[in-house]
Amino acid sequence: MASHEEQFKKLIAHTKEYGFIFPSSEIYDGLAAVYDYAQYGVELKRNIRDYWWKSMVQMHENIVGLDSAVFMHPTIWKASGHVDAFNDPMIDNKDSKKRYRADVLIEDQIAKWEEKIEKEVAKAAKRFGDAFDREQFVSTNPRVLEYRQKIETTSHRMNQDLTDNNFDDLKKLIEELEIVCPISGSRNWTDIRQFNLMFATKIGSVDNEASTVYLRPETAQGIFVNFLNVQKTGRMKVPFGIAQTGKAFRNEIVARQFIFRMREFEQMEMQFFVAPGEELKWFEYWKQERMKWHRSLGIPAGKYRFHDHEKLAHYANAATDIEYEFLFGFKELEGIHSRTDFDLSRHQEFSGKKIQYFDPDRNESYTPYVVETSIGLDRMCLAVLSHAFHEETLEDGSERVVMKFPPFLAPYKAAILPLVKKDGMPEKAQEILNLLRGDFMCQYEEKDTIGKRYRRQDAIGTPYCITVDTQTLEDNTVTVRERDTMQQTRMPIAELPAFIANGLKPQTV
Ligand code: GAP
Repeated sequence: MASHEEQFKKLIAHTKEYGFIFPSSEIYDGLAAVYDYAQYGVELKRNIRDYWWKSMVQMHENIVGLDSAVFMHPTIWKASGHVDAFNDPMIDNKDSKKRYRADVLIEDQIAKWEEKIEKEVAKAAKRFGDAFDREQFVSTNPRVLEYRQKIETTSHRMNQDLTDNNFDDLKKLIEELEIVCPISGSRNWTDIRQFNLMFATKIGSVDNEASTVYLRPETAQGIFVNFLNVQKTGRMKVPFGIAQTGKAFRNEIVARQFIFRMREFEQMEMQFFVAPGEELKWFEYWKQERMKWHRSLGIPAGKYRFHDHEKLAHYANAATDIEYEFLFGFKELEGIHSRTDFDLSRHQEFSGKKIQYFDPDRNESYTPYVVETSIGLDRMCLAVLSHAFHEETLEDGSERVVMKFPPFLAPYKAAILPLVKKDGMPEKAQEILNLLRGDFMCQYEEKDTIGKRYRRQDAIGTPYCITVDTQTLEDNTVTVRERDTMQQTRMPIAELPAFIANGLKPQTV
């Protein structure tokens, strides 16, 4: 079995070779942490976005959509706190001249201890066989307890230092943990400094401070500043939500792990406006709802976990991450935050405009509280790609790479393949293509042997391969090969639309 690291490298290579994701500007040697979605990646991404939109907007009568601009008035980012506080603590290694996020260096050390715990568990599981009780082992084994203690004290101290902006102690922690630069191997560190993550540019032809605008680092603020517009024109009653998807930009210091941490990425966010005092109930509700959404993709429960925040952002009174087990460990996929009335109050203060809602049930006006769900579309693509990627050895000894996407997310739903390029089979296959393409993304392929064509469709994750053969010309039936089982079923052409539509239903949990 390939290690997770090797598996991750193979996945990245596969996404490039088969037209899912390309490094940006590749002919100019690329641009760090920026990627382009290719012909299959763009379909996968669109399907995930559409599924999110359907679940959040179409399926909720009290949630509506929005598409606000990337450029916004610069004061918005003052009000939101991003100009002053959207910083990462950075540290440079004096020998390699490489720059790191101080907290990421420490988190990497914590991840090493977690790995060591897992190794101890694996060793013990092998030793004890069926009698192995994981819970008992991890709560009693002295080595595991020692690692756990280290993890706890280190993360607690790091979080405290970050909350207090105590960078002297954060640097001391790095030194005490004897963390070395992965490039130079030395512990020759600079002091820690703050680094603002927003990209700034100039608007208009006059170059002065007032013309500075920022590329939005989150889509959420576009929702907050449109709260009154949407509430009034949509005659929305609290509780209600506003959802939007769109690009966000962050000048990440540590940009790595492929499309996990990018400088230009896409978010899918929903701000849910509630009456003061109701926010923690709704926070719990959205926590469960969002986990259900993830589970409906058919990915096992064990691949997800909640991580409740110990260190809360200045605007939040509760926060959790939905973490996914990527090929480099459990990492944040989605954030659910109870943001209080912080954002609306700050925009009221900075804009001088009253942002209040009159609640007919309470017969009073107030500034609504907000529960936010915020997921990175690119991270979601990575989660789906990682889960789908399988290398299989078949009964005849041959190998195939197959992307086992949930069929409704697959870039193409069906491939129509004439067995040979003659005897009227291509024409019949084109007829089938015309029958299906209005409803489903379909591909027509006639080059190469049928076996090679199946392999290509497996590699891009097409759930159904429809083959036109001699019998088709006689009785209007085709074979349908199912991607995961590779089983073939014969069916009348007329039944194909209903058969495919049925196979594309998401799971319910
Ligand atoms: N409005 C709240 C907000 O932006 P966040 O935790 O900073 O919260 C939300 O970001 C989500 O956006 C994350 O859970 C992650 O999926 C995604 N995300 C954040 N930074 C990212 C980056 N540099 N590259 C890709 N996705 C990112």
